[in-house]
Amino acid sequence: MILYFKKRISYPNDSRHILLGTYPQILRATPADAPALSELSAVVFPLGCPANTPPQDLADYISREHTPARYLAMLQDDRFAILIAKVADNLAGLALLAQAPSPAAMQSSSALELRRFYIDSSYHGRGVANVLMEAVLALAAERGEPSLWLSAFSGNGRAIAFYKRWGFRIAGEHDFIVGTDRQRDYLMLHETSANSGNTSNAKEGS
Ligand SMILES: CC(C)(COP(=O)(O)OP(=O)(O)OC[C@H]1O[C@@H](n2cnc3c(N)ncnc32)[C@H](O)[C@@H]1OP(=O)(O)O)[C@@H](O)C(=O)NCCC(=O)NCCS
Repeated sequence: MILYFKKRISYPNDSRHILLGTYPQILRATPADAPALSELSAVVFPLGCPANTPPQDLADYISREHTPARYLAMLQDDRFAILIAKVADNLAGLALLAQAPSPAAMQSSSALELRRFYIDSSYHGRGVANVLMEAVLALAAERGEPSLWLSAFSGNGRAIAFYKRWGFRIAGEHDFIVGTDRQRDYLMLHETSANSGNTSNAKEGS
């Protein structure tokens, strides 16, 4: 099933995905996607972590949390929704949404978390992330969620710049633990109903 394929793009000046032939189809993941989701997230998850995270901690975490079995379980659980971005049949990105209360540090009643947002590195900077984020916000709005929260490593400048451009703001901090490694994360909040479909943050001419 194709979702949002013909939907208006929120970044009318971002023609990178069209110029580069990377305009993605946004689909709801199915159980058959579990192995590919696991493969993509095992490769991309470390990119969002501190460079000095011990490799063994990363490997252990991935072998526990990013397996096909974990994805399969989430795909069969109504508390989760997974959107995928496909470019010419390649899995270019995934977004995992989870019904989960925001941490106390956010002082927010937000109950929908954007738990994973991963773009394959060969599609970074090519506009795929914009199309996927638009679908994420549309899904949140469709579910009637007033806001969406996420946690991102505070040193992940690329992700934080991307989220800010889409209307997320830093609303707190907390520790995220990967094995023995403790990283400081920003907690970011998006007021979905207020910003969904808002093109005012659109960047010019890239
Ligand atoms: C984060 C991610 C989804 C963004 O997708 P993308 O295609 O790279 O995003 P874009 O290139 O459209 O936007 C990234 C922005 O960060 C900027 N940027 C790039 N490197 C940066 C850096 N080191 N520090 C700060 N900003 C940076 C880019 O210039 C761009 O800003 P602009 O829109 O003003 O030009 C993607 O890079 C990714 O999957 N990263 C690895 C996984 C990850 O970190 N996921 C988030 C976990 S919370």
